[in-house]
Amino acid sequence: MKIILGVSGGIAAYKAAELARLLMQQGHEVQAVMTDAAREFVQPLTFSALTGRKTLTNMFEVEHAIGHISVAQESDVLVIAPATADLMAKLAHGLAGDFLSTIYLAFTGPVVLAPAMNVNMWNHPATQANLETLRRRGHHIVEPESGYLACGMTGPGRLANPETIAAAVARAGAKRTDLEGETVLITAGPTQEPLDPVRYISNRSSGKMGYALAEAAVSRGARVILISGPVSIPAPRGVELVPVQTAVEMRDKVFENLEPAGIVIKAAAVADFHLSKVPDQKVKKTAARITLEFDPTPDILAELGRQKGDRLLIGFAAETQNLEREARRKLETKNCDMIVGNLVGGDLGFGSEDNEVALALRTGEVISLPRASKREIADRIFDEALKLRFALQAAHGR
Ligand code: CTP
Repeated sequence: MKIILGVSGGIAAYKAAELARLLMQQGHEVQAVMTDAAREFVQPLTFSALTGRKTLTNMFEVEHAIGHISVAQESDVLVIAPATADLMAKLAHGLAGDFLSTIYLAFTGPVVLAPAMNVNMWNHPATQANLETLRRRGHHIVEPESGYLACGMTGPGRLANPETIAAAVARAGAKRTDLEGETVLITAGPTQEPLDPVRYISNRSSGKMGYALAEAAVSRGARVILISGPVSIPAPRGVELVPVQTAVEMRDKVFENLEPAGIVIKAAAVADFHLSKVPDQKVKKTAARITLEFDPTPDILAELGRQKGDRLLIGFAAETQNLEREARRKLETKNCDMIVGNLVGGDLGFGSEDNEVALALRTGEVISLPRASKREIADRIFDEALKLRFALQAAHGR
């Protein structure tokens, strides 16, 4: 692969030399790009010697005026290690005042960021907000490690080791097209069930897992129809978004869009109960106590299970206990091919960036996926789904 290695100015800049050596050893072509601040820590010559190419530093030094564009266009992956708080802020906001941030804007391929900084800078809401923006943009973040930092403090902020960063680069660069020609229908987010014209009941679903699945499917070449309850995150680029509010609306949109779908994933946290007759007017505070009677909503997944045909049907089970047993039960009762079970209630699940799930498969197998970002979990779910479809087709002699 052709890799751009961006180095920004932190004490960990010297470790980027080890990363450059490792990437070269793995047979990649590496073009180092350093910010001015990085050059205060390490000499460009170090990288030039390791990569066999002149290290790019100053935007106005490059032979061609459009140097940044050609470097960006010719490369497969951009990795920035260390990524300082300052550089991440620039990237998050699209500032392009130096060579590295200019290349970043001109580059359209996968981006890997390995942050390193003082623990307080890392924990600062500004840094965390920028990180969130970059993560949502689909960039691969190699989390800093916890430990003793150069500033004398202890905590997260130390650059991940070069092997970990090189592995993330390899994963990011592996272009996958195994969902090309496929239509994937995904539901995500909570539903909101009105109580009157101004009130509703809902749940804590953030939509992040379903949106990560949508993003993964698009990047692997699928057409993606994303039917989503109200969430506060933007739809990934390239998906067809169908916004809905209630369980009944979600059901109607799912069946309207079902026909072309070969894979259906129900990641939405659908309300189980609603008021079947919503009052026309706001309920007034006249009584000392009120009692509401709820009726069940349609179970969309169970209905899909009854008419799925050849489609691969994947449901979710968010549980607070007995994860595996509940996942298996839902697999059977809703006639699914896979149930993605996750424990909610701790620091994982609703709203969190990471997830840890168990996949219960129609074949009887249960696969545990260790804690990882929701985006990585999403890719693992598709890996297993495609293997499962192959196994099921083989079993049916097709
Ligand atoms: N689901 C659905 N329609 C509903 C309720 C749930 O399609 N009305 C789907 C969810 O999208 C999810 C799966 O069913 O994929 C499991 O949802 P969950 O709330 O965990 O299960 P329930 O069927 O509600 O079972 P229980 O309340 O016993 O946990």
